[in-house]
Amino acid sequence: MTDDAAAPGATGDTPAAAPAGTPPMISIRKVDKHFGALHVLRDINLEVPRGQVVIVLGPSGSGKSTLCRTINRLEPIDSGEIAVDGVPLPAEGKALAALRADVGMVFQSFNLFAHKTILDNVMLAPLKVRKLKKDEARKQAEALLERVGIADQADKYPAQLSGGQQQRVAIARALAMNPKVMLFDEPTSALDPEMVNEVLEVMVALAKEGMTMVVVTHEMGFARRAGDRVLFMADGQVVEDAEPETFFTAPKSDRAKDFLGKILSH
Ligand SMILES: Nc1ncnc2c1ncn2[C@@H]1O[C@H](COP(=O)(O)OP(=O)(O)OP(=O)(O)O)[C@@H](O)[C@H]1O
Ligand SMILES: [Mg+2]
Repeated sequence: MTDDAAAPGATGDTPAAAPAGTPPMISIRKVDKHFGALHVLRDINLEVPRGQVVIVLGPSGSGKSTLCRTINRLEPIDSGEIAVDGVPLPAEGKALAALRADVGMVFQSFNLFAHKTILDNVMLAPLKVRKLKKDEARKQAEALLERVGIADQADKYPAQLSGGQQQRVAIARALAMNPKVMLFDEPTSALDPEMVNEVLEVMVALAKEGMTMVVVTHEMGFARRAGDRVLFMADGQVVEDAEPETFFTAPKSDRAKDFLGKILSH
């Protein structure tokens, strides 16, 4: 993206259009990152207005996961700046922990605590990090489990749930921190096909409520339905930045055409 004003969705068509002068929810400027000699993020510039749902697409190894992980500093960057809701990400320490709590993340693997019940999984971070009282944390966790459609599983352990249910718990757990931004890195790619939709439904609902979301996914139906914007990455760069319909019907670059040809053909 070269011109901020041209960013799709930056013109006030997002669910939670912010008043003029409000900082973008995510701001990434001139970010570079290497893994050794490998240049994985090359001069990434990106502004995500609040409420926008950004779909990140691209071939394997193009840097999608790394980009997500830098947004909450799971990965440090070599240079550049990342700010969430106008606050630059500090390198480390308490301030980083606080900012990290503003950014919820859901991965391909659910990473639930196996020896804790579903309810305890969702209550844990609010108790430890947000210092909520136990009653409050429990009430909130119950409400979140209700919201993702698994209130009746609260007292079970993760292994007793299906993959789709576990992923919905992972979403509830991330939401329990009241994040400003939710990052999803291929949240449905480890799921059996019949469980994909139940997870996507939860994400669609979240998008409709105005959550700012960055979603790495190859689920094209979801991208078209819930996405405000598609970023297509290749070799650590954002190669295309367009509205989903535009991207899917008229990709500009050969890389994107090639990529779409491959994923749409299976
Ligand atoms: N911790 C790491 N150490 C070294 N190299 C890494 C590390 N993490 C990722 N890489 C490399 O960085 C590049 C980008 O990886 P990344 O995981 O961001 O790609 P991706 O677009 O998410 O790919 P995929 O679609 O396969 O998930 C790849 O070449 C990968 O091998
Ligand atoms: Mg990845």
